[in-house]
Amino acid sequence: MGRFSIAIDGPAGAGKSSVARTLAQRLGYLHIDTGALYRALTLLVLRRGVNPAEEAAIAKLAREAQISLVAGSGGVKVFLDGKDVTDAIRDPVVSENVSLVAQHPRVRDHLLAIQRELAADGGVVMDGRDIGTVVLPDADLKVFLTASAKERARRRMKELRTQGHKVTYKDILLSIRARDNLDAERLVAPLRAAADAVFLDTTGKDIDTVVEEILGYLSAVGGRDECSTDV
Ligand code: DC
Repeated sequence: MGRFSIAIDGPAGAGKSSVARTLAQRLGYLHIDTGALYRALTLLVLRRGVNPAEEAAIAKLAREAQISLVAGSGGVKVFLDGKDVTDAIRDPVVSENVSLVAQHPRVRDHLLAIQRELAADGGVVMDGRDIGTVVLPDADLKVFLTASAKERARRRMKELRTQGHKVTYKDILLSIRARDNLDAERLVAPLRAAADAVFLDTTGKDIDTVVEEILGYLSAVGGRDECSTDV
């Protein structure tokens, strides 16, 4: 069989990126964190002082900006106009504004083309909110990851504190719930599981356990052979 396309969707903090990264490593696939594209654009919007509500101005920025994902030995790096913004896009101020930027149809259209191009050759694990429903509707395997909002807030808090951000659990929980609502209720490509997605609740499970479960689903669709020597 050829190289598979795997779509991983779910709300903020469900473990998508960590799971997708580990899964891609196990399979020798490319990991594409599509949230990073929305975050890089949001960083640019904030740096330029553009109002996140202004669709036309943001669409123009999106057309002019060079946003790229570059795979290296230390994982995938995110570049904005030639500069490494891998860390900068995780700043809480970006997290607070990214759903506003991501709700604009013209912005999504532009990033959709970039995402499809990145996945064109297969052999990808792509994570986001609308991968199974919009970006890769023909993906070989679609997984929808969930976890309780409280668990997701705990994970995000740990991650941000490790990066040196001073954050409280309460603020993160509120921000996660606000982002869930915006992502699920936007008119274009809202967060929802594809009809043919496998649901996987990651509450109380570590990354390796979740990855093993997904590899099991991959075997079921005939895509496990090529990774058997990696494990
Ligand atoms: O996965 P993340 O938290 O880095 O994503 C940041 C935001 O980007 C998220 O709040 C919604 C948006 N997003 C999206 O709308 N569609 C995607 N495919 C990926 C992310």
